[in-house]
Order: sequence, then C-alpha cells, then structure tokens
Amino acid sequence: MKIIIINGPNLNLLGKREPEVYGDTTFENYFSKLQFKFKDIHLEYFQSNIEGELIGKLQEVGYTHDGIVLNAAAYTHTSVGIGDAVKAIEAPVVEVHISNTFAREEFRHVSYISPVARGVILGFGLQSYDLAIQSFIE
Ligand code: DQA
Repeated sequence: MKIIIINGPNLNLLGKREPEVYGDTTFENYFSKLQFKFKDIHLEYFQSNIEGELIGKLQEVGYTHDGIVLNAAAYTHTSVGIGDAVKAIEAPVVEVHISNTFAREEFRHVSYISPVARGVILGFGLQSYDLAIQSFIE
C-alpha cells in the first residue's frame, strides 16, 4: 500500500510556528515516528508553500498511490484549484488539520477540499495524520 502525506504552506515551520496551536514537534520528527509505526506500508511525505506545486503533486500521485493525506493548510480555505485537483484524480484523499479549524476564526470554517474528500479529520494535533493513515488501512 502506497500512501503520501502532502502538506501545504507554512507547515514546514512546525515546531517553531505558533507552538500553542500546532505543537513543538517538527514534522520530519513526527514523520519518522509514523514510518516506524506503519512499517508495512510505503509512506511518503511532500511539502510545498506553492499552490501550483501542490496541484502538480496531487496530479502526479493521483493515479499511482492508494491514498493521499492532505493538509492544504491556508489553501484549504481559498483554493478552488486544489479542490478541483482532488476531484479530478482517482486516489482517495483524506483532508486533515492539526487544529480544530471550526473552533478558530470564521474564515477557517470554509474548506474547498471537504466536499471532494473521502473524509475529514481535524483537531487531534499531529495525531490527525495517524488517524488518516489508519482510515486507509482499515
Ligand atoms: C491548518 C489550519 C489552517 O487554517 C491553517 O492555515 C494552517 C494549518 C491545521 O493543520 O490546523 O496552516 O491546516
């Protein structure tokens, strides 16, 4: 089973960025724990701050991977293009967020991904990614 985690803008700053919201662990550190936990699956990670690169990656893996865990970060709330890419590809996408976006500012309550995602997991901190991977395995 091939699964990829795709992270959007500013998530390369995890560990340093607003630790009270996003925690104090870097994603690279958490990702190596996930790889250890899910040894039996092929797990990849991609991050970009650029909308077009995220769309390009979705198109690239959309026909080769069994599942995509997508945290489009701020683009979640603005990008028709990323929503269209998720709709276009074959691989199922689980939308994740570290924080509970519904408990935050109103502009974070809108998602262009949710209507085209298989499911949404949010508010569990970094564990949201773990739960999304489990949803593909089970
Ligand atoms: C986020 C929530 C978004 O609103 C925000 O722009 C992010 C991170 C999260 O994982 O909680 O960058 O996607």
